[in-house]
Amino acid sequence: MSTLSLLHKLKLKKSTTKEKIIQFYDEATEDYEFWSKDLNMHFGYYIPFKTNLFKRDSMLNEMNQQVFNRLDMPKRNSLVADLGCGMGGTIKYGLRKYPLTNIIGVTLSSFQVREGNKRLQDINGLILEENYNHTSFQPNSVDGAYAMESLCHSGHSEQSLCEAHRILKPGSRLVITDAFLKKNADELCIGSNYCYEQLCKGWSLEGLGSIEDVKTSLTQIGFRKVTIEDISFRVAPSVLHVPFAITGFILKKLFRKETLKAQSWKNLKGSLFALLSGLHMHNFGYYIITAEK
Ligand SMILES: C[S@@+](CC[C@H](N)C(=O)[O-])C[C@H]1O[C@@H](n2cnc3c(N)ncnc32)[C@H](O)[C@@H]1O
Repeated sequence: MSTLSLLHKLKLKKSTTKEKIIQFYDEATEDYEFWSKDLNMHFGYYIPFKTNLFKRDSMLNEMNQQVFNRLDMPKRNSLVADLGCGMGGTIKYGLRKYPLTNIIGVTLSSFQVREGNKRLQDINGLILEENYNHTSFQPNSVDGAYAMESLCHSGHSEQSLCEAHRILKPGSRLVITDAFLKKNADELCIGSNYCYEQLCKGWSLEGLGSIEDVKTSLTQIGFRKVTIEDISFRVAPSVLHVPFAITGFILKKLFRKETLKAQSWKNLKGSLFALLSGLHMHNFGYYIITAEK
């Protein structure tokens, strides 16, 4: 590895720690209500004539549906793990659609555990304060697992993928939705590299995995039938909502004479650089990965 790429990796490594992720989500999670009334903390999936381009939540909820379609788990008495569940927006969506299943989410943020669990009362959902890299799920115990825009906080690391493999029952599936690099980080052009670094700093990400490396890791860990779908064009319409959402959020704060918290600024910066990174389509893509144990 060249000195430059080593330096690059070290720099990114320092851009996040578990403490920074916790502080980010403990403080900035409530801002997401502005992004999604249903508290979906991810981008959306556009289907012409099914989702509404102007109603963000219709696209964000469709992304939830796409995940459940691919999990293909038994709908009765099954247990699903949400690895990095945020406020449980996807858990709530899933349990509304499949009320006889059970979904347990894990997150590092105590704010999300406290507030998210309030929204899951009376349904079969629960949020635990746990690290998705080493959960308390028994080996071979869950009928499906998904991770939506969460494993990027650990750089889509082998450790996270191994943990998902450990807890899944044989024959059950892992579904990941996230942005990935189309090449190695040290091969990015200056513009892409700048956007990437700012994105990682803003959103407290360890980094994005390269899609080919992640596919190889999944296979080496023992996953079968690894399917990679590039859904960048389906996701783009919701990414284009970012500038409008940011402007609306700042105007609302100004109107109410509220100051922006440090973590809110970081979130806005992360969102803006997610949009700018997304424009570099030769370097970044948004994917759904499905893999079977
Ligand atoms: C962008 S949010 C996505 C939340 C949710 N998946 C959604 O789409 O609404 C990222 C989530 O990953 C969680 N997270 C990040 N690193 C984690 C870790 N090591 N263990 C558990 N959760 C983690 C954060 O706490 C946060 O809830």
